[in-house]
Amino acid sequence: MSPASKPKFKNPRAKFNYEGRPVSVTGVGSYVPAKVLTNHDLEKMVETSDEWITSRTGIKERRIAAAGEFTSDLATKAAQRAIKMAGITADKIDLIIVATITPDLPFPSTACLVQQKLGARRCAAFDLEAACSGFIYGLEIGQQFIMSRTYDTVLVIGAEKLSTIVDWQDRNTCVLFGDGAGAVILQNRPNSHGLLTAVMGADGSKADLLSMPAGGSRCPATAASVAARLHYLRMDGKETFKNAVQAMLTAAQEALRRCEIDIAQIKCVIPHQANRRIIDAVGERLGVGSEQLFVNLDRYGNTSAASVAIALDEAVSSGKIHRGDLILLVVFGAGLTWGAAVIEW
Ligand code: ACO
Repeated sequence: MSPASKPKFKNPRAKFNYEGRPVSVTGVGSYVPAKVLTNHDLEKMVETSDEWITSRTGIKERRIAAAGEFTSDLATKAAQRAIKMAGITADKIDLIIVATITPDLPFPSTACLVQQKLGARRCAAFDLEAACSGFIYGLEIGQQFIMSRTYDTVLVIGAEKLSTIVDWQDRNTCVLFGDGAGAVILQNRPNSHGLLTAVMGADGSKADLLSMPAGGSRCPATAASVAARLHYLRMDGKETFKNAVQAMLTAAQEALRRCEIDIAQIKCVIPHQANRRIIDAVGERLGVGSEQLFVNLDRYGNTSAASVAIALDEAVSSGKIHRGDLILLVVFGAGLTWGAAVIEW
C-alpha cells in the first residue's frame, strides 16, 4: 500500500468476535428546547447571512435552551421518552451514562443529577466525555456491561447545552451549534432491536483542532481568562472538516467489517450532524445513496453528543426505519474521537 493510500486513522485493536449476551435497543427518545434561533436571527448578532450559513453548512436553524433549563433537564426529558418506549420504570435502570461536554457542573456528574430527576435510585451513574462521539462511546460501554451480564438495563444519553460555551461574537463557530438531548435504553431482549457492534477510536495528536482553552487545570478561571474569552469553544474549521471525513470513514468501515456487511445492505445511515458538506463527502466515499441518508441538521445544527441520538429517534418516529432494517450511526468529535455503530432495528 502506498503511503498516500494508507488510511489516516487507525481503530484500536479490539476483540469483537467473542461470545456475549446480545444487546438490544429497547427504547429511544429525544428532546429539544422550544426556542428556535434562525439564520436570520444570527444575521442580527454577527456579520453573517442565511445564504452563507446554508450553503457552507446546510443549517437553517437551531434550538436554544432557556436560562433555567440545564443539560440535566434536556437529558431527563429525552430519557423519560426512551424509558416509556422500552416499557420499563426508572427503578429498573442499573447504570446511567451521560455523554456531554456541557455538564451542569464540573462535578458532581450530570448523570447523578439525571438519576435524581428520574427517581432511578438503584443505579450507578457517570458522565463520559468524548465530545461529539460521546453517544457512540456510551453505546459501546453500555453494551459491554450487558454482554458481560454485569447489568441488565443501561440508559445511555447524549445531551448538550452548547449555547453556554459558544462565543456569540465569533461568526466562525456560533452559527454551527445547538442544544438538545437523545437517549436509548439498552437491554438483553432477544427478538428486539439488536445493537450488532459499536466501534470507538481516538487520536490525541489532533487535540488542538477543537477545544475550550480555559476552565480546566491547565488554565483555571481568572478575571483575565474570562476577559480573553477563553471559556468558549475554539475550532480550526478547515482542519476539523478534513479530519472529520477521514475519521468517519475509518469508523464506518470498521463497523461494517465487524458485521461482515456491505454499505448497500444498510437501510439508513445516520451521520453526526455537523455540516451537510461533511455528510455528503463521507456518503460519497462510502457509496451511500441519498435515499439511505438521514439528515436533520437543517433544524438543529450540531448538537454534539446528542446529535445522532436525536436523529435516531426522529428516523424511527418518522417511519424512515422499519423492523429488521440495518442502521449505521457514524460520528467524529473533538479529541479527535470517532465512532460507529450498527443496529438491526
Ligand atoms: N458568515 C459569513 N462568513 C463567514 C462565517 C459566517 N458565519 N464564518 C466564516 N466566515 C468567513 C471566514 O471568515 C472566511 O473569510 P475570509 O476568506 O475573508 O477569511 C470565509 O468565510 C471562508 O471561511 P472558510 O473557513 O474557508 O469556510 P469553510 O468553507 O471551511 O466553512 C466551516 C467553515 C463551516 C466552519 C467548515 O470548515 C466546517 O464545517 N468545519 C467543520 C466544523 C465541525 O464540524 N465542527 C464540529 C466538530 S464536532 C465536536 O466535537 C464539537
